[in-house]
Amino acid sequence: MANKTLICAQVFLLTSLLSLVLGHKVVNSEQYPLVVSTWPFVEAVRAAWRAVDGGVSAVDAVVEGCSACEELRCDGTVGPGGSPDENGETTIDALIMDAVTMEVGAVAAMRYVKDGIKAARLVMQYTGHTLLVGEKASVFAISMGLPGPANLSSTESIEKWTKWKQNHCQPNFWKNVVPVNSCGPYHGKDFAKLRHKTCSGASVLESMGSSLPQIGVNNHDTISMAVIDKLGHIAVGTSTNGATFKIPGRVGDGPIPGSSAYADNEVGACGATGDGDIMMRFLPCYQVVESMRLGMDPRLAANDAISRIARKFPDFVGAIFAINKNGVHAGACYGWTFQYSVRSPEMDDVKVFTVHPDSVIGDS
Ligand SMILES: *[C@@H]1O[C@H](CO)[C@@H](O)[C@H](O)[C@H]1NC(C)=O
Repeated sequence: MANKTLICAQVFLLTSLLSLVLGHKVVNSEQYPLVVSTWPFVEAVRAAWRAVDGGVSAVDAVVEGCSACEELRCDGTVGPGGSPDENGETTIDALIMDAVTMEVGAVAAMRYVKDGIKAARLVMQYTGHTLLVGEKASVFAISMGLPGPANLSSTESIEKWTKWKQNHCQPNFWKNVVPVNSCGPYHGKDFAKLRHKTCSGASVLESMGSSLPQIGVNNHDTISMAVIDKLGHIAVGTSTNGATFKIPGRVGDGPIPGSSAYADNEVGACGATGDGDIMMRFLPCYQVVESMRLGMDPRLAANDAISRIARKFPDFVGAIFAINKNGVHAGACYGWTFQYSVRSPEMDDVKVFTVHPDSVIGDS
């Protein structure tokens, strides 16, 4: 790592000198442009690369990349047709951030509109707001020209949801409620205890088994992408349809700046994926960028942000990639094996990097 950094530094010095000598305005042509994305979303990275290599801005390249994933319905967890909520509906969370201006646009729990990242860009470009939610976000997106209202369900998502209903709505995201092992409506246990004091409520109040949905690649999964364009400008973006069988109204880390993505042009960028309900409490990407600002390299910063969460929630799963403004990248993960994709000028095509969870130093 140290060697690599040194070589990068030397190459950088050399190109800087060359550009001085030649008098051209060569802006770090060795490192830029650069596209990094969570998971092996190779087509999405290629789409962003084509755009940014063709000269578009980092913001527009992020939109190209994330849109590709929405159209391909990457892993069923980006775009329409995946992650049905308790009512069987698919909703969209997305965010975009311009690291030059620190402007952010985001939509959360957006219904009836497929184009999450484009809706997020519309919020950033055409409003003074940062985050629009629910059906109001849909109305905004459609009023600004995006297609809709559309049915975001697919045969697969409806089938998944039907099976879940048949399985007494298990697993789900409720805790400390009654009835147990059954569909709702639910009541808080303590509230139920009061109400059932004189009834034979005892058996009903038996502790509920751990039935939180299995967190895995096909459940908690986000495309989080960072792009550095030819001018050295950084943008990040995310898009996801959230967690399967979520309680309607749930918003994950996807549209939360500093959680699923964050960037500052002076420092670098970060993207995150995993158990968003936990991760958003720690703003891990804000942490990563701020740690790099104070001098940590990307690997240390990513490991540190992940282990902060792991110390408090040893059962969470999550992953982070970090890049600094010189294009040095690293990943860290906990609870699962993580892959992230990179395309840089020295590569012929997208390269997928694998990170193992033992690289994070947890609580010992
Ligand atoms: C939406 O699409 C799903 C899957 O094709 C279908 O089962 C459902 O009936 C549709 N909903 C409406 C309101 O058309």
